[in-house]
Amino acid sequence: MSKHIAKLLKREFLTPLDAEKKTIHLEIGFDSAIPYLPGDSIAIDVVNPHNQVEYWLKKHQRDRDEKVIHRRTQEEWKLYDYLIQCVNLTSIQDGNLDRARPLMPRFYSIASSNLLHPRSIHLLVTIDEFINEDNMLMMGVASHFLLKTLAVGDPVSFKLFANDHFRVASANVPMIMIGPGTGVAPFKAFLEERIAQNATGPNWLLFGERNRNTHFYYEDFFQDLEKKGKLKLSLAFSRDQDEKIYVQDRLKQEADTLFDFLDKGATIFICGDAKVMAKSVTETLEKLYQKRHHATIDEAREWLRSLKASKRLCLDVY
Ligand SMILES: Cc1cc2nc3c(=O)[nH]c(=O)nc-3n(C[C@H](O)[C@H](O)[C@H](O)COP(=O)(O)OP(=O)(O)OC[C@H]3O[C@@H](n4cnc5c(N)ncnc54)[C@H](O)[C@@H]3O)c2cc1C
Ligand SMILES: NC(=O)c1ccc[n+]([C@@H]2O[C@H](COP(=O)([O-])OP(=O)(O)OC[C@H]3O[C@@H](n4cnc5c(N)ncnc54)[C@H](OP(=O)(O)O)[C@@H]3O)[C@@H](O)[C@H]2O)c1
Repeated sequence: MSKHIAKLLKREFLTPLDAEKKTIHLEIGFDSAIPYLPGDSIAIDVVNPHNQVEYWLKKHQRDRDEKVIHRRTQEEWKLYDYLIQCVNLTSIQDGNLDRARPLMPRFYSIASSNLLHPRSIHLLVTIDEFINEDNMLMMGVASHFLLKTLAVGDPVSFKLFANDHFRVASANVPMIMIGPGTGVAPFKAFLEERIAQNATGPNWLLFGERNRNTHFYYEDFFQDLEKKGKLKLSLAFSRDQDEKIYVQDRLKQEADTLFDFLDKGATIFICGDAKVMAKSVTETLEKLYQKRHHATIDEAREWLRSLKASKRLCLDVY
């Protein structure tokens, strides 16, 4: 798989600058077309935040100019550069460089269609912040790299990963797209692709986030499609009221529409959080099937298995 070098063309906040959870839209551009497809993702090469490397050196009283040997290549590096470019810092929290694991690229779903954007790739990135072992507020490595280190115009190195299990359905096939949070990224790409293809199949997007006025990503794009009758949009803003409302609650409310779409041969796509959301959504699908068909849980699971086997239930979760 070959590496591509692109350029950061654009970075903009989709949430207020002081939002508790911040999300950005990125565009990276290239001189010659790259044959990507909606559903694909890219793995971006990142470097560690300078302040975290400085912090590590100070904490473990190490000299930045110390010579070290790269564990894999056996090349000689200056410690500071080695820590910035090569090492997963969480693997050497105890200061023992012998335990260093490599710094890995980070994956992001492509949020654009090649048909509309042949010379660029759009990304939707939530900035990952957490409290570290010393009780300090830290940013994830790629989050820091994409938000702080990279400047517009800087090179971005990445590999393209094809995902043939997660592709826009044929032009006349209805699509049900369930994508809370950054899970909505590939669905912007899917919808752009369908518009570019003049596809006739109905589109239904279920999107959820914290609050409507701060976290409704690509609001204008989705609402414009809805106004034109090209998209059915169901929204679940979990923190706009006392009780949580999630995408699966919208599915429950619209069970008739769900089975109507499925009767017409729809494909269901689920993208986003793997740990909780995807499980909750698939369990809801099972329960709705049980209720509709007076079926047992085993029959409902078998139904989901057969949907998956026939590629009418496609997951891209992380
Ligand atoms: C196929 C795929 C597609 C994806 N698509 C998207 C997408 O479209 N948009 C998107 O935003 N994300 C996407 N992701 C997730 C993305 O790849 C990254 O995992 C995410 O951005 C966080 O990366 P990071 O480097 O900023 O955080 P990392 O540095 O990897 O940190 C992640 C977490 O590890 C823990 N951690 C790290 N260091 C420490 C420490 N020192 N002490 C304690 N805890 C620590 C924290 O909990 C932190 O939140 C996707 C992932 C996959 C696999
Ligand atoms: N470390 C964590 O605790 C944690 C938690 C979630 C996601 N993540 C990871 O963070 C990354 C980005 O996530 P993101 O910001 O795009 O989205 P997200 O954090 O998954 O949140 C998007 C929306 O989904 C809601 N949600 C929470 N639990 C849900 C469930 N069981 N079913 C359906 N919806 C649910 C959230 O509501 P509320 O937040 O109001 O409950 C929010 O409205 C992903 O890699 C994900 O795996 C980490």
